[in-house]
Amino acid sequence: MRLAVFASGGGSNFQAILNAIDRGALRAEAVLCLSNRPDAGALERARAANVPQFILPPQDVGTAMQGSDMLDALEASGANFIALAGYLKMIPSEVVRAFHGRIINIHPALLPAFGGSGMYGRRVHQAALECGVRWTGVTVHFVDEAYDTGPIVLQEPVPVSQDDTIDTLAARVLEAEHRIYPEALRLFAEGRVVLDGRSVRILDLQHAS
Ligand code: GRF
Repeated sequence: MRLAVFASGGGSNFQAILNAIDRGALRAEAVLCLSNRPDAGALERARAANVPQFILPPQDVGTAMQGSDMLDALEASGANFIALAGYLKMIPSEVVRAFHGRIINIHPALLPAFGGSGMYGRRVHQAALECGVRWTGVTVHFVDEAYDTGPIVLQEPVPVSQDDTIDTLAARVLEAEHRIYPEALRLFAEGRVVLDGRSVRILDLQHAS
């Protein structure tokens, strides 16, 4: 697996992926870190780990150019799989099409709850607390041409406590993200994820924790 990670923020999920590769839990090579923000913490982590970086030119973001620049960067890196890790912009359709079945995202809730446009970061946890859910969680899903609607690959529930604040809940969910994202990527690297239309089958599931 030659992995491109797209990130707009701090990149703690990207780091969890790099750590899993380092300790031999994920057979993959991180070949690209792409960001729409030059100040993204994820780029620092890429520098520290010697992962090539690509920053989308500002005039590109939200324009038709974005797709072709992304595809050029992906091709130059030799990436064959994309993991979005806190990437806050819509992925252009040509990239979604070119990487059909090979592009995934992690979302800090149990989709389809608390997803969609504008549902990112603290807002997700705030909405979960306002609803009074007893459980929230993490979802890894395929990326399609809308926000958070692609077929689901893995989910892990996370309990909500009565005393939770946005920060305490976000921290508990993030911990689960750091476990489940490398795990999901491992399933792909081992060829155990089968996408058939909107349904996803994980082969040999008893070994997937
Ligand atoms: C995570 O909560 C992830 O689920 C969401 O964006 C956040 C990114 O955090 N898509 P980080 O940049 O990986 O620390």
